[in-house]
Amino acid sequence: MAQKEGYPEADGYLFLPQYDKAKLESRATDSFNFRSDDVIVVGFLKSGNTWLLEVLKAMYNDWGLQKFGGAEAAMLLDERTVFNSHFCRKHEELVEAIKCEDLPSPRLMRSHLPATLFPCHVLKEKGVKVIYISRNPKDIVVSTYYFYKSFLHGACSTGDWEETVQSFLEDRQPLTPWVRHVGDWFQKGIEDNVLHVTYEEMKRDLPGTVRKIADFLQRPLTIEDIDRVVRTTTVDAMQSRLLKMLIVDEEMVPKAAKGENPFVRKGVVGDWKNHFTVAQSELFDSKIGSKVRSINPNIPYQ
Ligand code: A3P
Repeated sequence: MAQKEGYPEADGYLFLPQYDKAKLESRATDSFNFRSDDVIVVGFLKSGNTWLLEVLKAMYNDWGLQKFGGAEAAMLLDERTVFNSHFCRKHEELVEAIKCEDLPSPRLMRSHLPATLFPCHVLKEKGVKVIYISRNPKDIVVSTYYFYKSFLHGACSTGDWEETVQSFLEDRQPLTPWVRHVGDWFQKGIEDNVLHVTYEEMKRDLPGTVRKIADFLQRPLTIEDIDRVVRTTTVDAMQSRLLKMLIVDEEMVPKAAKGENPFVRKGVVGDWKNHFTVAQSELFDSKIGSKVRSINPNIPYQ
């Protein structure tokens, strides 16, 4: 794999600079004390992780993290286990004030770890549940392009569209290779504890996706509950609400100071058609599209 300076690599994946290579390699997350009712949202970057978390928070109001007033962000498990530094000062304050370990149950957490670096054995042993979100990678690249231009003052981006496409294809972006990240979460033996949802199905039928999640968690919802989820997790509702979240910090994402929310941008399916040239799309299809179908027919790809 083409290495990028300052980006640790472990198990063939590239990570954001905050991740600690030694902790990843020694599988530090294995020693995290999981509980049987833990729910963890996992996904490749820009796949709709934040939206899915907000949906889960709107589905049930008893998550441990909701007892902590303003700290609305679900806790990033990676930050407590395999990071060597925090994204920024405010984030550090948040993470140190509300540690995943101390959260009352039930805990809603999130992680970007690939399945091969996640303690998948605890899923079965403890009954921990993972909800993995995937998204058409062409839309991920578009979302990444806009996000990295402002994230950490552009440290992860040249701001060039062609370079964004190329670096994704050449596995020079954080968490790539994407195909492996998605595919590894389909590995055998964890099916009962991992629910797969897609960004596209959430857009197409959010009430249906919410019911599917409620079945998986065995926590039934009323029609009124589902209506509330749909109403409170629209792009518009999340745009303003999430700006108040500590996770959107101007040190981490300078545009937040100007009232722009990088975690909630356009929120549509198919924006790639406005960005990819025919040649870029064909190259993508030959390098990534050809592999996707052989992994699982439910992985979104267009
Ligand atoms: P776009 O940049 O394509 O708009 P993540 O949370 O994993 O970083 O994903 C960010 C993507 O999810 C962004 O995609 C963002 O706009 C989209 N998103 C966030 N909230 C959403 C919502 N309520 N409905 C639809 N898409 C949403």
